[in-house]
Amino acid sequence: MSEFQLAQRLANLAPYLFAAIDKAKEEVRARGVDIISLGIGDPDLPTPDFIINALFEAAKRPANHQYPSYIGMLSFRQAVAGWYKRRFGAVLDPNTEVLGLIGSKEGIAHFPLAFVNPGDVALIATPNYPVYGVSTEFVGGIPKYLPLTDQNDFLPDLDAIDSDTWKSAKLIYINYPNNPTAATAPRSFYEKLIEKAKEFNVIVVHDAAYTEIYFDEGKKPLSIMEIPGGKDVAIEFHSLSKTYNMTGWRIGMAVGNASLVKGLAKVKEQMDSGIFQAVQEAGAVALNDGDAFSAQLRGIYKERRDVVVDALKKAGIACRVPDASFYIWSKVPKGFTSQEFVTKLLMQTGVVTTPGNGFGAPGEGYFRISLTVDTDRLKEAVLRISQL
Ligand code: MLT
Repeated sequence: MSEFQLAQRLANLAPYLFAAIDKAKEEVRARGVDIISLGIGDPDLPTPDFIINALFEAAKRPANHQYPSYIGMLSFRQAVAGWYKRRFGAVLDPNTEVLGLIGSKEGIAHFPLAFVNPGDVALIATPNYPVYGVSTEFVGGIPKYLPLTDQNDFLPDLDAIDSDTWKSAKLIYINYPNNPTAATAPRSFYEKLIEKAKEFNVIVVHDAAYTEIYFDEGKKPLSIMEIPGGKDVAIEFHSLSKTYNMTGWRIGMAVGNASLVKGLAKVKEQMDSGIFQAVQEAGAVALNDGDAFSAQLRGIYKERRDVVVDALKKAGIACRVPDASFYIWSKVPKGFTSQEFVTKLLMQTGVVTTPGNGFGAPGEGYFRISLTVDTDRLKEAVLRISQL
């Protein structure tokens, strides 16, 4: 059997962070170890029945068995616009400012194909979801990383970026509530970012997948679409995955500046054939009727957050108390690197977490816990962590 040479863009690329963790986890499981999975941010709870029932009905309609609409069904796009209006007070035109995605990861990964030329710079606030950097590099763009640290509240210091760097940049990636640090961004941050983006003609790419997991009604995460001027410079990626426990369904949306949405749609038209329409119909039901469910889910994650933060504190492990997202960003105990700690933890206790440096260099010294098991298992996990 011949062995074929990979394209250069893949030759030196490390495996996708969570694929590598999955592999290590399965090796340990095969030894009979009881695994507690706090790695990938994949909700353990099921998609609620009202969404599953909508899928079931929609799947019976023959029209849904044919190729879907490229940009997403109008009814889905209207549901997205309706949800943005209700949740954020943001007005979006479903015809030009909303695009259906096969999950937000798909849209994020394709976006640079539409707007990044070889040699263009993409500013990326890091630690970060790995897809921003890899998809930039795939098209010959140059990622320039902006460190997020405890000292800057995990917000990029926009004033510290010199004007040459701003001038060289085609786009800037931000993500709040942030994965992995769980930080949120205040209105003033978005206002300043929009001002800079306008001044230097830079596209803002906001990954907003975690806005619905928050723990205080007074601190609801913002959409850049609700900030004046946001729609002039930004595209926002969102997902039904985390909000309605639908990671397996692959459905999300891009919204915002019409020319950015149109550019991404142009790429997608060539690359995929849209989202199964029965999934879109169910997605529209989720967005239209899911507010009570979201509130209930937030209650569950809040309880989990409190259990973990409390247990980590008792174990003497420092962590940030997050206002949003279902991640806990914790310091690794003294004497370990991030990778050493999570590897030892997995090998010796069966607890799967994510090494902070897997999201970029400033993540070194941290590990990420996903609140994706019930409170009893979380307590057990922290007990094992503290006994390591
Ligand atoms: C995460 O755990 O950071 C993400 O959910 C992983 C992914 O989307 O692939």
